[in-house]
Amino acid sequence: MDAMVVTGGRRLKGRVRAGGAKNAALPIMAASILAEGPMRLKDVPDLADIRTMTRLLKTLGVRVEREPDGDMILRSPRRTTRNRAPYKIMRTMRAGICVLGPLVARRGKAEVSLPGGCAIGDRPVDLHLKGLAALGARIRIRHGYIVGGCRRLHGAEMYLGGPFGSSVTGTENILMAAVLAKGTTVIDCAACEPEVRDLARVLVKMGAQIYGVGSPRLVVEGVDHLTGCEHTVIPDRIEAGTLLLAGAATHGDVTVEGARWDDLFALVSVLREIGIEVQHFDDTIRVRASRRPKSVDVTTLPFPGFPTDLQAQMMALLTVADGISVVTEKIFPDRFMHVAELGRMGAEIRKEGNAVVVHGTRTLSGAEVMASDLRASAALVIAGLVAGGKTTISRVYHLDRGYQRLERKLRRLGAAIRRVKQ
Ligand code: UD1
Repeated sequence: MDAMVVTGGRRLKGRVRAGGAKNAALPIMAASILAEGPMRLKDVPDLADIRTMTRLLKTLGVRVEREPDGDMILRSPRRTTRNRAPYKIMRTMRAGICVLGPLVARRGKAEVSLPGGCAIGDRPVDLHLKGLAALGARIRIRHGYIVGGCRRLHGAEMYLGGPFGSSVTGTENILMAAVLAKGTTVIDCAACEPEVRDLARVLVKMGAQIYGVGSPRLVVEGVDHLTGCEHTVIPDRIEAGTLLLAGAATHGDVTVEGARWDDLFALVSVLREIGIEVQHFDDTIRVRASRRPKSVDVTTLPFPGFPTDLQAQMMALLTVADGISVVTEKIFPDRFMHVAELGRMGAEIRKEGNAVVVHGTRTLSGAEVMASDLRASAALVIAGLVAGGKTTISRVYHLDRGYQRLERKLRRLGAAIRRVKQ
């Protein structure tokens, strides 16, 4: 197993580029099931989760190839009975659930393993099932699998809000089903995340009729067939945000290409509030931190709110801010596995329900810590970059699920970080 060794205390400086967005690429890959013709995708990052989705789609009969230039080509078979998404794949990557809607809509049958919970809490899929049932699918749970079927889905009006607001993959699943349903579908309380928008754009390129893209109300006029298409995946706002936060936390001067202002507005506002200088031009954001950041209260919310996927990294920065910060998690109330590890590095930090109180200290001290989930790992890397001495982060396979060779990008910015075998 790999570990990451970070020697902290260096100011990051320079320019890097964020790759294609994992969370946009995953549902777009699943949308290939709907296409009668090949799909060519550019900027699909080379990540563990993408490889898992590739494996899942191959199990479902889809041909997936990477061309020498990095483009991914996906071809769905005309006919197949391979409609089962097995537990051994689904338990490692929850986004596998995105094949459910396309399978039911295009093939009339799906057996998709329930993914189960994960380190950030229990992860229900009731909204996915509610939406599919509204579209006329027969849904049952059998032996840990969602078994769905229908002759042809029909349009419906539905409210997809849950106790924590909208659901990203829930909206994506229902959208991918509704595009082939007969008649009009209205999805209210749809997720507005940029990744949902990117998927909707792909579906429109394939021939779908979707109105209100980017808004919380999506209206879909079902069509009979969808074709293949070509698409460039949007840049990863979470990777970009992580690199910007690493720059800010180390009092650095970092420019990230592939960082869209519109997609990162909440982060930029918070960074400015704590005294970081932020500039943006086209798809590029630059942060400059000349002094110690101030404390701030941050609450995660669905887009355009502060993203839960940057909560841990933001918290790592706030451990060395001047003053007391409160970080409240409103999407995944248990997403605080990083708190204890940051504590091992000297952070003065206390969890209270779905909030964490952070008393900023002047510095952290390097320690041996353990990554528990994808974004928690990124937070520990940022903490390692600001800490005095050496930090060893084990179980970095979590990090590799969502960041393509993060250590190389950080090294380019001057960080002392290397991957070692443990
Ligand atoms: C997606 C992202 C993930 C991000 C999350 C929130 C992908 C592949 N993953 O995950 O990185 O952290 O959005 O921005 O895009 N919920 C229900 N019922 C449901 C579905 C969700 O109650 O049927 C709840 C969840 O428990 C959570 C909230 O809704 O509290 C939001 O979850 P959701 O948006 O569905 O997250 P994912 O789509 O799984």
